[in-house]
Amino acid sequence: MCGIVGAIAQRNVIPILLQGLQRLEYRGYDSAGLVVIKNSTFERLRSTGRVTELTKKSAHSSGKIGIAHTRWATHGVPSERNAHPHISCDSVAVVHNGIIENYEELRAQLTARGYLFSSDTDSEVIAHLIHSYYLQNNDLLAATRAALVELIGAYAICVLAVNNPQHLVCARRGSPLLLGLGENENFVASDVSAVLAVTKNIVYLAEGDVAEINLHSYRIFDEGGKQVQRAMHVSELSNDSVELGEYSHYMQKEIFEQPQALADTLEAVCNSQALIPGLFGADAAVDFKNIGSILILACGTSHHAGMVARYWLEDIAGIPCTVEIASEYRYRKSVANDKTLVVTISQSGETADTIAALNHAMLLGHVYTLAICNVPESALVRLSRLRFLTRAGPEIGVASTKAFTTQLAALFLLTLVLTKQHQRLSAEEEREHLHQLRHLPSAVQLVLNMAPEIALLSEKFASKHHTLFLGRGLHYPIALEGALKLKEISYIHAEAYPAGELKHGPLALVDKYMPVIAVAPNDTLLEKLKSNLQEVRARGGELFVFADAGTRLQSSEGVTLIQMPEHAGYLSPILHTVALQLLAYYVALQKGTDVDKPRNLAKSVTVE
Ligand code: M6R
Repeated sequence: MCGIVGAIAQRNVIPILLQGLQRLEYRGYDSAGLVVIKNSTFERLRSTGRVTELTKKSAHSSGKIGIAHTRWATHGVPSERNAHPHISCDSVAVVHNGIIENYEELRAQLTARGYLFSSDTDSEVIAHLIHSYYLQNNDLLAATRAALVELIGAYAICVLAVNNPQHLVCARRGSPLLLGLGENENFVASDVSAVLAVTKNIVYLAEGDVAEINLHSYRIFDEGGKQVQRAMHVSELSNDSVELGEYSHYMQKEIFEQPQALADTLEAVCNSQALIPGLFGADAAVDFKNIGSILILACGTSHHAGMVARYWLEDIAGIPCTVEIASEYRYRKSVANDKTLVVTISQSGETADTIAALNHAMLLGHVYTLAICNVPESALVRLSRLRFLTRAGPEIGVASTKAFTTQLAALFLLTLVLTKQHQRLSAEEEREHLHQLRHLPSAVQLVLNMAPEIALLSEKFASKHHTLFLGRGLHYPIALEGALKLKEISYIHAEAYPAGELKHGPLALVDKYMPVIAVAPNDTLLEKLKSNLQEVRARGGELFVFADAGTRLQSSEGVTLIQMPEHAGYLSPILHTVALQLLAYYVALQKGTDVDKPRNLAKSVTVE
């Protein structure tokens, strides 16, 4: 996963940058780089090895201002030319976390204006774009702000100009970034752990902020361009812990990290030739040709991800798919089909039931196996022939959040790759899906911006003992996931049903004391769902409807409408999940439960 460190000091900053990168190593990466200004020129060092390689390379370098980066590419050979920092015309250097959605368009425009690209990344357009403005007035802050207006997507960036060694400029939208304040030296980082060794005084940038950092001072501008003050926090964390930063709980942090986690997971699809089987391992091209069906095995939240994937795989790729709870499958005498791809999904890769289910599948004669997992060296990954590693970073909260949404992103990629390989994906559809994927981190950020509204709503649930979640189709598993989140951390009894199933039993539970939460995307099942909601209202049930724009649903007596920012088509389950995660989190706060360590539960269930 990508990481950023920047520093300006009266001493050599290279050791600070390298130490910062080392602190970010736990997030995983495949290349690293830094740039400093030395004798009025850039000195850039990049390496596809570990940070220690970069340390060796930099033995004779020094500089008092610099920026550094770790990058994790997910397919192909990670190369030095794709490693950050990217430099434009020997003048402007940039490091970037996130995804620039309109980079192809910008790249074409900049190429037409004579800019030469030396990498395949989306990030390089930022360097050239800033440079094109910087030429006009030599003002790095103004040039960065002008360039940001043209960027669509998620970013945290740090920028350096060779003829302006007095300051660094940085900005964030959809990816975290903070300032570390030292004595006559200042720092920038994407994660507080990167600067803890040099300062504990931290200022977290808000969404849309742009900042200029000098030796002795700094200025922050909000997204409207107004100079603002942001509170300084003194970090109490030791150098060794995974930092909570500005958040009160790991679950909250992990919910808010989702734009970055998704951007990191989807880094591989930044370029248009990205939908290749190689994303899933060296043998995938051959294996995917041989398979005719899919069997997904997982537990808990990961099982819900599998349930969403079934809709995608059958609807888009046309491949038959079954999804089973691993703890059930492992004891079932099922019939193996040697043309089936067995996909296991797990955050930890150490869940005993999922590992046992995979072993059981292999004993039954299944050959083709793929693990979708967040932990690279885990047992599940080691056992499987193919793998896709989600890039969510460490998930500490027992309730799974960013692991789930990145699993969904991975499963959507799997669907697209299989669809393409089975020649069912037109070039036009591929472009459209890639566009939606690149937009995903920003779309998730818009849902996160609903947090204050959802926090207010949560007050209505604190006194409830039961809730019902409803969804249909692709969003039925999201109703299940919403109910699981709520019960796990608030201890409120929550059940989920496909809305059409209400009248077959659960409707008997509905009265004025039963809050009913409905997931209402603007999709083909909307009208059916509306009828189901009428059934609830007619029995006095109180409705809370998370509805996309264009659904023409409205708040009324007994109906509270929570307006979702946009409809994301096939990716809509990801957006609705984030809203329900926020609801569960804020209800748990109301109830004062232990959000990160709910009673009776463990993060990794390594026993049966
Ligand atoms: O590590 P895994 O994804 O295999 O874990 C599976 C479940 O134990 C896990 O998703 C659990 O349901 C979470 N606590 C849900 O928030």
